[in-house]
Amino acid sequence: MTQTENKPEVNDTPLVPIEKIVSLCKRRGFVYPNSEIYGGVSGIYDFGPMGVELRNNIRRYWWWSMVQNHDNVVGIEGAIITHPRVWEASGHVENFVDKLVDCKKCKRRFRIDHLEPENLEQHKCPVCGGELTTEPRVFNLLMETYLGVVEGDRMKTYLRGEACQDIYLDYDNVLKSSRVQVPFGICQIGKAFRNEVTPGNFLFRQREFEQWDLQFFVHPDEMQKWFDYWKEFRYQWYLSILNHKDRIRFREHAPDELAHYAKQAYDIEYQTILGWQEWEGIHWRQDWDLSRHSQYSGQDLSYTDPNTKERYIPWIVETSGGVDRTFLNLLLDAYEEEPDPAGKEPRTVLRLNPMLAPVKVAVLPLQKNKEELVTTAKDIHKKLQRLMVSQYDDVQNIGRRYRRQDEIGTPYCVTIDFQTLDDQTVTIRERDSMTQQRIAISELPMYLLEHVSFK
Ligand code: GAP
Repeated sequence: MTQTENKPEVNDTPLVPIEKIVSLCKRRGFVYPNSEIYGGVSGIYDFGPMGVELRNNIRRYWWWSMVQNHDNVVGIEGAIITHPRVWEASGHVENFVDKLVDCKKCKRRFRIDHLEPENLEQHKCPVCGGELTTEPRVFNLLMETYLGVVEGDRMKTYLRGEACQDIYLDYDNVLKSSRVQVPFGICQIGKAFRNEVTPGNFLFRQREFEQWDLQFFVHPDEMQKWFDYWKEFRYQWYLSILNHKDRIRFREHAPDELAHYAKQAYDIEYQTILGWQEWEGIHWRQDWDLSRHSQYSGQDLSYTDPNTKERYIPWIVETSGGVDRTFLNLLLDAYEEEPDPAGKEPRTVLRLNPMLAPVKVAVLPLQKNKEELVTTAKDIHKKLQRLMVSQYDDVQNIGRRYRRQDEIGTPYCVTIDFQTLDDQTVTIRERDSMTQQRIAISELPMYLLEHVSFK
């Protein structure tokens, strides 16, 4: 038996204001401002019970696609604090800077690369029209920290400004301790820290955030082939988790944006209310990183081909994206307020891909004052909980419980009703179509696993 709630046709939805997502995130336990009871810290956030589940699923799906499903890719987890020389070798101490100008009237501070050309040329504040300072001041984005407890004997170092440096540092250890050979890749997911001068737009630009990186080591002759492979792979990966597949595109870097060693670079961009913005970068890094670390550390980081005995510094294809931007973009992509055909409150629904949804299934007894319904529902919930994130809910009427689950993106709701007690079947309701079908309790685990597993 299949029955469908009245569901309007869903056409393409308008771009969602960030404020809607901020409010949902706070209300339903996805994201909170860090240190809120002290007034918060700009550009730093915490993840709540729903947020941590979604984040873990996003990370796991990336790892599953990149590491588990590639024979020539392995993973590491490097430290946040490294030797300070790392950041000299990487060029961050010298070049990781923002140039800023101040408004003499309203005292606001602007990155010059964020100003419109006319504001820059006329030294005019884009907010109040006041005069901007002419000589930009230079700020380094690296966050400093100190190791050691004895004053005067403390070593200044940095919280990592980009996570990928650990991969170059561990490249030689990975080569010697695992059976990989060029071409091969090393993946890592980890925190990075930047003293962003203008953090903002919620998770989009933070001071503490998380990156996922692949550094893929190749023979120079194979650079173009692997660059093309990963560029396409990453694009398809993002497509696989999006509803609005027309809101993603490549942007090729112009020649004056390219690093001196890069032949090509592409951003994967996503369109939100903020316009088209970078989501991930695909970079041609050549032998820059390993050569610099060889030079600064005095260690030979070249590779000897076991078959040809050719010795060379491998070239690198980098794919570097943000976990937090993925989190934000997916919420913006999934959020919808669906008008109610009867003119009641609109249905807020997160159309997250089921494999990423924080809660996979909610188990709901039709009535909470019927002991047999409650016992059966709790028993089903306990069994499902061993396989996936399941929630038991018996508070308020069934319609409200469905709405609560829709708002956090739960793809399936299982209802235990009086028929269940007779024939051991339940109804299973699908979030997007709101269709319901009856299914035997014994078939439930397999049905759900098939629909929520990574594909
Ligand atoms: N290793 C290369 C690298 O770090 P990047 O473009 O500076 O390149 C990679 O950063 C990704 O990290 C970006 O595409 C973006 O998704 C994310 N990201 C960068 N800065 C961020 C910030 N302040 N807040 C949140 N995510 C950020």
